[in-house]
Amino acid sequence: MIHRFMIGLVTSAAIACSISPQAHAQAYPNKPITIIVPFAAGGPTDIVARVIAERFTSSLGERVIVENAPGAAGTTGMTRAARAPADGYTLLMGPMSTMSFSPTIYPNLPVHAIKSFDPVGIVASAPIVLVVQKGLPGTMKDFVAHVKANAGKMQNGNAGIGSTSHLACVLLNSRFGVKPAIVPYKGTAPAMQDMLTGQVHYLCDQSTSVMGQVKAGAVRALAVLAPEPSPALPGVPTIAKAGYPGAEMVVWNALFAPKGTPADIIKQLNAAIAKGVDDGASRERFASLGAEAPSADLRSPQALGKLHAADVEKWGKIIREAGVKIN
Ligand code: MLT
Repeated sequence: MIHRFMIGLVTSAAIACSISPQAHAQAYPNKPITIIVPFAAGGPTDIVARVIAERFTSSLGERVIVENAPGAAGTTGMTRAARAPADGYTLLMGPMSTMSFSPTIYPNLPVHAIKSFDPVGIVASAPIVLVVQKGLPGTMKDFVAHVKANAGKMQNGNAGIGSTSHLACVLLNSRFGVKPAIVPYKGTAPAMQDMLTGQVHYLCDQSTSVMGQVKAGAVRALAVLAPEPSPALPGVPTIAKAGYPGAEMVVWNALFAPKGTPADIIKQLNAAIAKGVDDGASRERFASLGAEAPSADLRSPQALGKLHAADVEKWGKIIREAGVKIN
Protein backbone atom coordinates (compact mmCIF):
# COMPACT_ATOMS: atom_id res chain seq x y z
CA MET A 1 0.00 0.00 0.00
CA ILE A 2 2.79 2.38 1.06
CA HIS A 3 4.72 1.26 -2.02
CA ARG A 4 1.80 2.12 -4.36
CA PHE A 5 1.37 5.51 -2.62
CA MET A 6 5.08 6.27 -3.16
CA ILE A 7 4.84 5.38 -6.87
CA GLY A 8 1.83 7.73 -7.11
CA LEU A 9 3.84 10.56 -5.53
CA VAL A 10 6.83 10.00 -7.79
CA THR A 11 4.61 9.97 -10.89
CA SER A 12 2.87 13.24 -9.93
CA ALA A 13 6.24 14.85 -9.23
CA ALA A 14 7.52 13.72 -12.64
CA ILE A 15 4.44 15.20 -14.36
CA ALA A 16 4.83 18.48 -12.46
CA CYS A 17 8.52 18.69 -13.44
CA SER A 18 7.75 18.08 -17.10
CA ILE A 19 5.34 21.09 -17.39
CA SER A 20 6.96 23.35 -19.98
CA PRO A 21 6.93 27.15 -19.90
CA GLN A 22 4.42 26.96 -22.81
CA ALA A 23 2.07 24.85 -20.71
CA HIS A 24 2.49 27.42 -17.91
CA ALA A 25 1.44 30.19 -20.31
CA GLN A 26 -1.56 28.12 -21.40
CA ALA A 27 -2.59 27.70 -17.80
CA TYR A 28 -2.65 31.45 -17.23
CA PRO A 29 -5.01 32.94 -16.25
CA ASN A 30 -7.00 30.56 -14.11
CA LYS A 31 -8.40 33.04 -11.58
CA PRO A 32 -9.47 36.72 -11.61
CA ILE A 33 -6.88 39.37 -12.44
CA THR A 34 -6.78 42.68 -10.55
CA ILE A 35 -5.73 45.92 -12.22
CA ILE A 36 -4.76 48.51 -9.61
CA VAL A 37 -5.64 52.08 -10.60
CA PRO A 38 -3.63 54.48 -8.42
CA PHE A 39 -6.16 57.33 -8.75
CA ALA A 40 -9.86 57.85 -7.99
CA ALA A 41 -12.64 56.21 -10.01
CA GLY A 42 -13.98 58.20 -12.95
CA GLY A 43 -10.64 59.88 -13.82
CA PRO A 44 -8.49 59.27 -16.91
CA THR A 45 -6.41 56.39 -15.51
CA ASP A 46 -9.56 54.66 -14.31
CA ILE A 47 -11.40 55.12 -17.61
CA VAL A 48 -8.55 53.58 -19.64
CA ALA A 49 -8.23 50.70 -17.14
CA ARG A 50 -11.94 49.91 -17.38
CA VAL A 51 -11.92 49.85 -21.19
CA ILE A 52 -9.03 47.35 -21.27
CA ALA A 53 -10.38 45.33 -18.30
CA GLU A 54 -13.57 44.68 -20.23
CA ARG A 55 -11.58 43.52 -23.29
CA PHE A 56 -9.29 41.34 -21.14
CA THR A 57 -12.29 39.65 -19.55
CA SER A 58 -13.51 38.54 -22.97
CA SER A 59 -10.12 37.71 -24.52
CA LEU A 60 -8.46 36.04 -21.50
CA GLY A 61 -11.63 34.34 -20.29
CA GLU A 62 -11.20 35.41 -16.66
CA ARG A 63 -12.82 38.18 -14.65
CA VAL A 64 -10.68 41.35 -14.48
CA ILE A 65 -11.30 43.55 -11.47
CA VAL A 66 -10.35 47.24 -11.38
CA GLU A 67 -9.32 48.31 -7.90
CA ASN A 68 -8.84 52.01 -7.12
CA ALA A 69 -6.02 52.64 -4.62
CA PRO A 70 -5.55 56.43 -4.74
CA GLY A 71 -3.18 58.61 -2.70
CA ALA A 72 0.04 60.64 -3.01
CA ALA A 73 -0.24 61.17 -6.79
CA GLY A 74 -0.59 57.47 -7.49
CA THR A 75 2.38 56.30 -5.41
CA THR A 76 0.15 54.54 -2.84
CA GLY A 77 -1.33 52.26 -5.51
CA MET A 78 2.03 51.90 -7.27
CA THR A 79 3.60 50.69 -4.00
CA ARG A 80 0.79 48.20 -3.45
CA ALA A 81 1.18 46.82 -6.99
CA ALA A 82 4.99 46.55 -6.70
CA ARG A 83 4.60 44.44 -3.55
CA ALA A 84 2.07 42.02 -5.04
CA PRO A 85 3.22 38.53 -6.12
CA ALA A 86 4.82 38.59 -9.58
CA ASP A 87 2.37 36.05 -11.00
CA GLY A 88 0.33 38.09 -13.48
CA TYR A 89 -2.72 38.32 -11.22
CA THR A 90 -2.02 41.86 -9.97
CA LEU A 91 -1.19 44.53 -12.53
CA LEU A 92 -0.84 48.30 -12.37
CA MET A 93 -2.44 50.80 -14.72
CA GLY A 94 0.49 53.17 -14.60
CA PRO A 95 -0.09 56.73 -15.74
CA MET A 96 2.84 58.73 -17.11
CA SER A 97 2.69 60.89 -13.97
CA THR A 98 3.19 58.25 -11.27
CA MET A 99 5.57 56.19 -13.39
CA SER A 100 7.71 59.04 -14.74
CA PHE A 101 7.50 61.84 -12.18
CA SER A 102 7.67 59.87 -8.91
CA PRO A 103 11.41 58.99 -9.12
CA THR A 104 12.09 62.75 -8.98
CA ILE A 105 9.23 64.00 -6.77
CA TYR A 106 9.10 61.01 -4.36
CA PRO A 107 12.75 59.81 -4.30
CA ASN A 108 12.41 58.07 -0.93
CA LEU A 109 9.66 55.60 -1.78
CA PRO A 110 10.34 51.96 -0.80
CA VAL A 111 9.60 50.93 -4.40
CA HIS A 112 10.75 52.39 -7.72
CA ALA A 113 8.70 53.12 -10.84
CA ILE A 114 11.29 51.46 -13.11
CA LYS A 115 13.17 48.98 -10.91
CA SER A 116 10.10 47.45 -9.23
CA PHE A 117 8.16 46.71 -12.43
CA ASP A 118 8.22 44.90 -15.74
CA PRO A 119 6.64 46.89 -18.59
CA VAL A 120 3.68 45.15 -20.28
CA GLY A 121 2.35 47.64 -22.84
CA ILE A 122 0.85 51.05 -23.51
CA VAL A 123 -2.94 51.04 -23.62
CA ALA A 124 -3.76 54.62 -24.64
CA SER A 125 -2.49 58.19 -24.72
CA ALA A 126 -4.47 61.40 -24.35
CA PRO A 127 -3.59 65.09 -24.26
CA ILE A 128 -4.11 67.37 -21.28
CA VAL A 129 -6.88 69.93 -21.78
CA LEU A 130 -7.15 73.19 -19.84
CA VAL A 131 -10.74 73.29 -18.58
CA VAL A 132 -12.29 76.19 -16.70
CA GLN A 133 -15.58 76.89 -14.92
CA LYS A 134 -18.22 77.65 -17.52
CA GLY A 135 -18.82 81.18 -16.17
CA LEU A 136 -15.16 82.17 -16.69
CA PRO A 137 -13.92 83.97 -19.84
CA GLY A 138 -13.91 81.78 -22.94
CA THR A 139 -10.66 82.92 -24.53
CA MET A 140 -7.17 82.26 -23.21
CA LYS A 141 -6.25 85.96 -23.20
CA ASP A 142 -9.32 86.95 -21.18
CA PHE A 143 -8.97 83.93 -18.87
CA VAL A 144 -5.35 84.77 -18.02
CA ALA A 145 -6.32 88.42 -17.42
CA HIS A 146 -9.14 87.22 -15.13
CA VAL A 147 -6.81 84.93 -13.12
CA LYS A 148 -4.33 87.82 -12.73
CA ALA A 149 -7.04 90.26 -11.68
CA ASN A 150 -8.41 87.79 -9.13
CA ALA A 151 -5.10 86.66 -7.64
CA GLY A 152 -5.64 85.08 -4.25
CA LYS A 153 -9.18 83.95 -5.07
CA MET A 154 -8.49 81.42 -7.82
CA GLN A 155 -8.36 77.71 -7.01
CA ASN A 156 -6.55 75.32 -9.35
CA GLY A 157 -7.47 71.68 -8.71
CA ASN A 158 -5.34 68.63 -9.48
CA ALA A 159 -4.91 64.90 -8.76
CA GLY A 160 -2.11 65.35 -6.22
CA ILE A 161 1.40 66.82 -6.11
CA GLY A 162 3.24 64.96 -8.86
CA SER A 163 0.27 64.08 -11.06
CA THR A 164 0.11 65.19 -14.70
CA SER A 165 -2.84 67.44 -13.82
CA HIS A 166 -0.57 69.11 -11.25
CA LEU A 167 2.58 69.49 -13.34
CA ALA A 168 0.78 70.61 -16.53
CA CYS A 169 -0.92 73.45 -14.64
CA VAL A 170 2.23 74.34 -12.62
CA LEU A 171 4.03 74.88 -15.92
CA LEU A 172 1.10 76.81 -17.40
CA ASN A 173 0.64 78.97 -14.28
CA SER A 174 4.26 79.98 -14.46
CA ARG A 175 3.87 80.87 -18.16
CA PHE A 176 0.71 82.85 -17.30
CA GLY A 177 2.58 84.56 -14.44
CA VAL A 178 -0.10 83.61 -11.88
CA LYS A 179 -0.05 81.92 -8.48
CA PRO A 180 -3.48 80.43 -7.71
CA ALA A 181 -4.20 78.25 -4.67
CA ILE A 182 -3.25 74.68 -5.62
CA VAL A 183 -5.86 72.19 -4.41
CA PRO A 184 -4.85 68.50 -4.51
CA TYR A 185 -7.42 65.67 -4.73
CA LYS A 186 -7.14 61.89 -5.01
CA GLY A 187 -7.76 62.06 -8.72
CA THR A 188 -9.07 64.50 -11.27
CA ALA A 189 -12.62 63.09 -11.03
CA PRO A 190 -13.20 64.54 -7.50
CA ALA A 191 -11.48 67.79 -8.60
CA MET A 192 -13.90 68.00 -11.53
CA GLN A 193 -16.84 67.41 -9.14
CA ASP A 194 -15.69 70.43 -7.13
CA MET A 195 -15.33 72.46 -10.30
CA LEU A 196 -18.95 71.68 -11.15
CA THR A 197 -20.07 72.92 -7.74
CA GLY A 198 -17.91 76.04 -7.91
CA GLN A 199 -14.98 75.46 -5.51
CA VAL A 200 -12.36 74.76 -8.19
CA HIS A 201 -11.91 77.36 -10.94
CA TYR A 202 -9.73 75.44 -13.37
CA LEU A 203 -8.08 72.11 -14.01
CA CYS A 204 -5.53 70.56 -16.37
CA ASP A 205 -7.00 67.13 -17.03
CA GLN A 206 -6.73 64.51 -19.77
CA SER A 207 -9.28 64.70 -22.58
CA THR A 208 -10.45 61.21 -21.58
CA SER A 209 -12.13 62.42 -18.43
CA VAL A 210 -13.15 65.99 -19.32
CA MET A 211 -14.89 65.15 -22.57
CA GLY A 212 -18.31 64.36 -21.06
CA GLN A 213 -18.52 67.65 -19.11
CA VAL A 214 -17.13 69.70 -22.02
CA LYS A 215 -19.66 68.21 -24.45
CA ALA A 216 -22.47 68.79 -21.95
CA GLY A 217 -21.41 72.45 -21.65
CA ALA A 218 -20.80 72.09 -17.90
CA VAL A 219 -17.19 73.31 -18.22
CA ARG A 220 -15.26 75.13 -20.92
CA ALA A 221 -12.18 73.74 -22.74
CA LEU A 222 -9.73 76.58 -23.45
CA ALA A 223 -6.82 74.71 -25.04
CA VAL A 224 -5.52 71.23 -25.87
CA LEU A 225 -1.93 70.71 -24.68
CA ALA A 226 -0.97 68.73 -27.80
CA PRO A 227 0.95 69.51 -30.99
CA GLU A 228 -2.23 68.99 -33.04
CA PRO A 229 -5.86 69.92 -32.31
CA SER A 230 -8.04 67.07 -31.02
CA PRO A 231 -10.68 65.85 -33.52
CA ALA A 232 -12.83 65.08 -30.47
CA LEU A 233 -12.77 68.76 -29.42
CA PRO A 234 -13.49 70.71 -32.60
CA GLY A 235 -12.84 74.44 -32.28
CA VAL A 236 -10.57 74.12 -29.23
CA PRO A 237 -7.10 75.54 -30.11
CA THR A 238 -3.80 73.87 -29.36
CA ILE A 239 -1.87 75.47 -26.52
CA ALA A 240 0.64 76.88 -29.05
CA LYS A 241 -2.18 78.49 -31.03
CA ALA A 242 -3.59 79.85 -27.76
CA GLY A 243 -0.28 81.65 -27.18
CA TYR A 244 1.85 79.24 -25.11
CA PRO A 245 4.02 77.03 -27.33
CA GLY A 246 6.15 74.47 -25.49
CA ALA A 247 3.51 73.68 -22.85
CA GLU A 248 2.34 70.47 -24.57
CA MET A 249 1.69 67.37 -22.45
CA VAL A 250 0.34 64.13 -23.92
CA VAL A 251 -0.11 61.45 -21.24
CA TRP A 252 0.30 57.69 -21.71
CA ASN A 253 -1.39 55.07 -19.57
CA ALA A 254 0.29 51.68 -19.61
CA LEU A 255 0.11 48.32 -17.89
CA PHE A 256 2.97 47.24 -15.66
CA ALA A 257 3.50 43.99 -13.75
CA PRO A 258 5.49 43.49 -10.54
CA LYS A 259 9.19 42.85 -11.29
CA GLY A 260 9.90 39.18 -12.00
CA THR A 261 6.58 38.33 -13.66
CA PRO A 262 7.24 35.40 -16.06
CA ALA A 263 8.04 36.53 -19.62
CA ASP A 264 5.37 34.24 -21.13
CA ILE A 265 2.68 35.93 -19.02
CA ILE A 266 3.91 39.41 -20.06
CA LYS A 267 3.77 38.25 -23.69
CA GLN A 268 0.23 36.98 -23.27
CA LEU A 269 -0.91 40.22 -21.60
CA ASN A 270 0.81 42.35 -24.25
CA ALA A 271 -1.01 40.41 -27.00
CA ALA A 272 -4.28 40.89 -25.11
CA ILE A 273 -3.68 44.68 -25.02
CA ALA A 274 -3.10 44.75 -28.80
CA LYS A 275 -6.27 42.72 -29.38
CA GLY A 276 -8.19 44.90 -26.93
CA VAL A 277 -7.17 48.27 -28.35
CA ASP A 278 -7.66 47.11 -31.96
CA ASP A 279 -11.22 46.07 -31.20
CA GLY A 280 -13.72 48.37 -32.96
CA ALA A 281 -15.64 49.22 -29.78
CA SER A 282 -12.48 50.30 -27.89
CA ARG A 283 -11.25 52.30 -30.88
CA GLU A 284 -14.53 54.17 -31.02
CA ARG A 285 -14.60 54.72 -27.28
CA PHE A 286 -11.02 56.05 -27.22
CA ALA A 287 -11.61 58.26 -30.27
CA SER A 288 -14.74 59.77 -28.68
CA LEU A 289 -12.60 60.63 -25.63
CA GLY A 290 -9.78 62.16 -27.67
CA ALA A 291 -7.50 59.25 -26.73
CA GLU A 292 -5.40 57.05 -29.01
CA ALA A 293 -4.17 53.46 -28.94
CA PRO A 294 -0.37 53.11 -29.35
CA SER A 295 1.09 53.12 -32.86
CA ALA A 296 2.74 49.89 -34.11
CA ASP A 297 6.26 50.97 -33.05
CA LEU A 298 5.16 51.59 -29.45
CA ARG A 299 3.29 48.38 -28.73
CA SER A 300 5.91 46.04 -27.32
CA PRO A 301 6.94 45.81 -23.65
CA GLN A 302 10.46 46.84 -24.77
CA ALA A 303 9.13 49.99 -26.46
CA LEU A 304 7.26 50.91 -23.27
CA GLY A 305 10.42 50.27 -21.23
CA LYS A 306 12.40 52.63 -23.48
CA LEU A 307 9.75 55.35 -23.47
CA HIS A 308 9.36 55.05 -19.71
CA ALA A 309 13.10 55.44 -19.08
CA ALA A 310 13.29 58.41 -21.47
CA ASP A 311 10.31 60.07 -19.76
CA VAL A 312 11.80 59.65 -16.27
CA GLU A 313 14.83 61.59 -17.61
CA LYS A 314 12.86 64.18 -19.57
CA TRP A 315 10.29 65.00 -16.88
CA GLY A 316 12.85 64.73 -14.08
CA LYS A 317 14.76 67.61 -15.66
CA ILE A 318 11.58 69.68 -16.16
CA ILE A 319 10.44 69.01 -12.57
CA ARG A 320 13.85 69.99 -11.13
CA GLU A 321 13.95 73.16 -13.24
CA ALA A 322 10.40 74.06 -12.17
CA GLY A 323 11.35 73.42 -8.53
CA VAL A 324 8.35 71.10 -7.94
CA LYS A 325 8.54 69.49 -4.49
CA ILE A 326 6.10 67.65 -2.23
CA ASN A 327 6.12 70.43 0.38
C1 MLT B 1 -2.96 62.47 -13.31
O1 MLT B 1 -1.76 62.21 -13.47
O2 MLT B 1 -3.37 63.64 -13.27
C2 MLT B 1 -3.90 61.31 -13.13
O3 MLT B 1 -3.74 60.40 -14.12
C3 MLT B 1 -5.28 61.72 -12.84
C4 MLT B 1 -6.28 60.64 -12.56
O4 MLT B 1 -6.20 59.54 -13.08
O5 MLT B 1 -7.24 60.94 -11.82
